[in-house]
Amino acid sequence: MIKRPTVLITRKIPTNGIEILRSRYNVIINEKDRPLNRNELIKSVKDKDAILCVLQDKIDKQIIDTAGPNLKIISTFSAGYEHIDIESANKKGIRIGYTGDTLTETTADLAFGLVLCMGRRIVEADKFVRDSKWKNGWCPELMLGTDIHNKVLGLIGFGKIGKAVAKRATGFDMEIIYYKRNIQKTDIGKDIKNKAKYCKLKELLSIADYIVIACSLNDDSYHLIDIENLKVMKKTAFLINISRGRIIKERDLVFALRNKYLAGAALDVFEQEPISRNNPLIKMKNVILLPHIGSSSHSTRNRMSETAATNIINVLEGNDKKALLV
Ligand code: DGY
Repeated sequence: MIKRPTVLITRKIPTNGIEILRSRYNVIINEKDRPLNRNELIKSVKDKDAILCVLQDKIDKQIIDTAGPNLKIISTFSAGYEHIDIESANKKGIRIGYTGDTLTETTADLAFGLVLCMGRRIVEADKFVRDSKWKNGWCPELMLGTDIHNKVLGLIGFGKIGKAVAKRATGFDMEIIYYKRNIQKTDIGKDIKNKAKYCKLKELLSIADYIVIACSLNDDSYHLIDIENLKVMKKTAFLINISRGRIIKERDLVFALRNKYLAGAALDVFEQEPISRNNPLIKMKNVILLPHIGSSSHSTRNRMSETAATNIINVLEGNDKKALLV
């Protein structure tokens, strides 16, 4: 009798993906409401045919070796795959699946939401009301903020998410500038053609009113936003990060915020997640802090679940071409 493949799911994900896998394979799932710790991960991966993992699982050489010869695919429930040792996997012919563009629009929605929240002080104003500080009704100079329309949006990274943020900004009549590492003519999408202008990084930092980090994390972007670059920003400008925390040197950002090199920052991602209770950002007023929810809408997380599961099926059943692979 042919043995059913066994799939490990390292974290509870929306049930649609789990059900798809359960209908065909033996599925072992981490039922805890937290990621597996290192020892648990090592124990769990043994003899699996496929692993469906999440961002917090560090899938390195040790994990790949421990999994053993049956492992054919590591499918991550994320667009980013920097937590997976691609080289070690490739050497063993193990495929890496990811969720590709499924989250682009949802993440761009959040990025633009943070632009609005920062400029118009929405989170701060909500707290003001709840804290019973609103005493005098309508007030001519209460919570004065910064407009969004006619301001300059600077995008660091102009891939799918960057372009989706730019598309939203055109509806607000923003001037759009962007920086990216490798610039090619075809990079400029049709719908925002002629509206987004390429800039060198320092130039972008010095003119943008809202700077959105939308590039991926790699050796070049690690700590790209450090004190030298923060110094260049306008004192009235806002920094928004919906990409990866390690693109900003957080210690430098805290220093820059304290010294008013910029007006504020909205962060959905951090160098360490979750952030520690002692992280100075928590006590700062000119920041908005979110728990890495860029892709967190019902429909997008369902689509991510389905994609991560389908990638496994396609690889285990010899249809690699249909899978979204790195
Ligand atoms: C990703 O998928 O890479 C996001 O950061 C989480 O959805």
